[in-house]
Amino acid sequence: TARGAGVGRALVRAAVEEARRLGARRITLRVLGHNTAARKLYESEGFVVEGVQPEEFYLGGAYVDDVTMGRFLTEREPSPVTT
Ligand SMILES: CC(C)(COP(=O)(O)OP(=O)(O)OC[C@H]1O[C@@H](n2cnc3c(N)ncnc32)[C@H](O)[C@@H]1OP(=O)(O)O)[C@@H](O)C(=O)NCCC(=O)NCCS
Repeated sequence: TARGAGVGRALVRAAVEEARRLGARRITLRVLGHNTAARKLYESEGFVVEGVQPEEFYLGGAYVDDVTMGRFLTEREPSPVTT
């Protein structure tokens, strides 16, 4: 019943802020491929899919992907242009 009231987003933001405070440059997480609610939350907080391990888990009679998502916590310098 607590879902959909902003708790998940507040927790993600708190984790990001704490990681920044500790000096982290990046943050990553793992989420089951079919967890649409969690993936939407992470995407809306700036996380992007960085990798997928297909059918990594067998859960409830079905194979499920393991998705890695990540985001940078600092402003990134543009990549140097090579000629
Ligand atoms: C996923 C979970 C953490 C989201 O927490 P929450 O407190 O319900 O989410 P919030 O109210 O902060 O919503 C934040 C965003 O999440 C997404 N979201 C949340 N519930 C959703 C749903 N049922 N369907 C689609 N997107 C959803 C939306 O993008 C939402 O933003 P919006 O309200 O502006 O549309 C919660 O559903 C949960 O605890 N799930 C079970 C455990 C779990 O899956 N944990 C994550 C493991 S990786």
